[in-house]
Amino acid sequence: MQCDVLTLFPELIEGIAAQSMLKRAQESGRVCIRSHNIRDYIKDRHRIADDAPYGGGCGMVMKAEPIFRAIDALQDEGQELRLIFPSPQGIPFSHQLAMDLSRESRRLVWICGHYEGIDERVLTRLEPEEISIGDYVLTGGELPAMVMIDAAARLVPGVVGDPGSVEQDSFADVLLDYPHYTRPEGVRGYGVPDVLLSGNHAAIRLWRRKESLRNTYWKRPDVLHDECLTEEDRRLLREISQECEQV
Ligand code: ADE
Repeated sequence: MQCDVLTLFPELIEGIAAQSMLKRAQESGRVCIRSHNIRDYIKDRHRIADDAPYGGGCGMVMKAEPIFRAIDALQDEGQELRLIFPSPQGIPFSHQLAMDLSRESRRLVWICGHYEGIDERVLTRLEPEEISIGDYVLTGGELPAMVMIDAAARLVPGVVGDPGSVEQDSFADVLLDYPHYTRPEGVRGYGVPDVLLSGNHAAIRLWRRKESLRNTYWKRPDVLHDECLTEEDRRLLREISQECEQV
């Protein structure tokens, strides 16, 4: 997965990309993250990236030409580009979209806006996909870009050591995740469910499935679609519902 981020704040990108899983993903060559300072594509010596909006009003608007130039430079490298513009007006980001990005063979390019917005001609000429990470407004597109990169990178084969942990993940198979425990067995008087210490793999699988169903039933009933459930799931859900009534 090849990611290029056009930004006025490359340190924001580099700081996140240099840590943990994203760092290892790049070291292994499975993911490449490059940041490009839009200011480097400004011709005038003052290197001013924004200007007042035509028609007046408050705030500043990012200039179009430096962004066009940055895109031209990427295009000159020869690879096909898929352009993304993080925006609260975009389509909602999702696990499905993360999967799609993780499988993309084109170079992925995020154009990060700031201030009041960017010159509309960037959007009308380049027609990037507008993607939102939620119904709230952030100060810029950098954090949304890194959210998308992080979510997609961990789906690239080999990035997460144990592929099972990605498959069992929340939203990968519609259900939310089950609870996890690790050593020590007792923490401040709180124990670990007996079944997880039993060594009975069939019972552990069933317990995890049930707890996934319970989590989804309580936290995100909207993603619990009947057609995705097995007979066993329906039985477990009946048990969960009876357990609720008993409480
Ligand atoms: N830029 C500002 N807010 C955003 C959001 N919610 N999603 C994506 N990009 C944004």
